[in-house]
Amino acid sequence: MILLSYKYTIRINIHLIRKLFTFNYNDAGMKHLILLIIFFNVGFLQAQQMGSKLNIQPGKLWNDSRGERINAHGGGVLYHNGIYYWYGTHKLQGLSEAKHADGGIHCYASKDLVKWQDMGMVLNLVKGDDAQDLAYECNFDRPKVVFNAKTGNFVAFFKLYLKGFGVETGFVGVALSKSPTGPFTYSHKFLGANSPNGSGDFAMYQEENGDLYHLAVRKPDKAFVVGKMNEEYLLPAGQYVVCSGILEKTEAPSIVKRNGTYHLLASGSTGWDPNPARYFTSTSLTGPWEYHDNPCSGINPINGLGPEKAFGGQSTFILKVQGREDAYIAMFDVNKPDHPFESRYIWLPVDIRNNQFSLHWQDAWSLDAFKAHK
Ligand code: DGJ
Repeated sequence: MILLSYKYTIRINIHLIRKLFTFNYNDAGMKHLILLIIFFNVGFLQAQQMGSKLNIQPGKLWNDSRGERINAHGGGVLYHNGIYYWYGTHKLQGLSEAKHADGGIHCYASKDLVKWQDMGMVLNLVKGDDAQDLAYECNFDRPKVVFNAKTGNFVAFFKLYLKGFGVETGFVGVALSKSPTGPFTYSHKFLGANSPNGSGDFAMYQEENGDLYHLAVRKPDKAFVVGKMNEEYLLPAGQYVVCSGILEKTEAPSIVKRNGTYHLLASGSTGWDPNPARYFTSTSLTGPWEYHDNPCSGINPINGLGPEKAFGGQSTFILKVQGREDAYIAMFDVNKPDHPFESRYIWLPVDIRNNQFSLHWQDAWSLDAFKAHK
């Protein structure tokens, strides 16, 4: 809508300017009127541009501060020393998911969550050596970065299917850096969930005391499990436990804790296709988790999809906004498996009532949706 009126306003202005120069108006009043209309139109365009800079526009093309499309899929956001870092999988242009479009981890930085500066690739897949775990054409999905205050390491976790081995066995890959903007060095992989087949989609949850948990869908039975990581965040510390109450085949988990309650937003299991969001709450990571109604409402006008398909998106992360009261953003990917480079993002503010999260579609919104801390 905004885009249409923007283009339309530009066209009117071009038309008026032509008129001003091609016709020889004797009538000075008419000339002034045309100049006045142009003047107002330019003001309108400027106001629109300023507005769109302050806005998050779910589902729309989201460019970085240089005007390049943001390429960080299945990602998450880390807040560190006053800056948000958005990490996601870099999708290679021109390749489909079937042709292995993953290129590594791309990082962006922002202070306001709207304008993102490209910090470049912080981990690259390896070309020309198929023996490497990170060989090109492996499957590299859903990277999440956590800071370990004890070791001073930024630790990147990602879903890793080795090149040529299919998706029956899913590793968690681990890479380390001393800086949030990398470069990250690949360290090792592990099979999580106490399963010889490892795990699939996952979330990393960090408690206030620094304890880190790996929550994941176990392979091959697709139960949802949680296990604590060791102090260095490098390997699981012990046994995983099934999260009671979380439905089987729950994918795309994202989690936050608010006032002692964990909120877990996830999806069902339909490959790259969207399905209804799943939402659970619990006061313990192992459960019992309570399953709630679909938290989504409204329609994404870009694809006509609503709660039955999570607006066409799949969850990836819940971001806690700093300096605002009770402010969380639910991050989704709009997957396009034939052209993953063109996949987009849906970020929506979380509405909280009676300790329950809900997500209402919005074409555009700003952080003013949340109250600032006093
Ligand atoms: C669902 C996951 O959530 C996606 O990230 C991706 O791994 C697809 N499965 C692949 O089918």
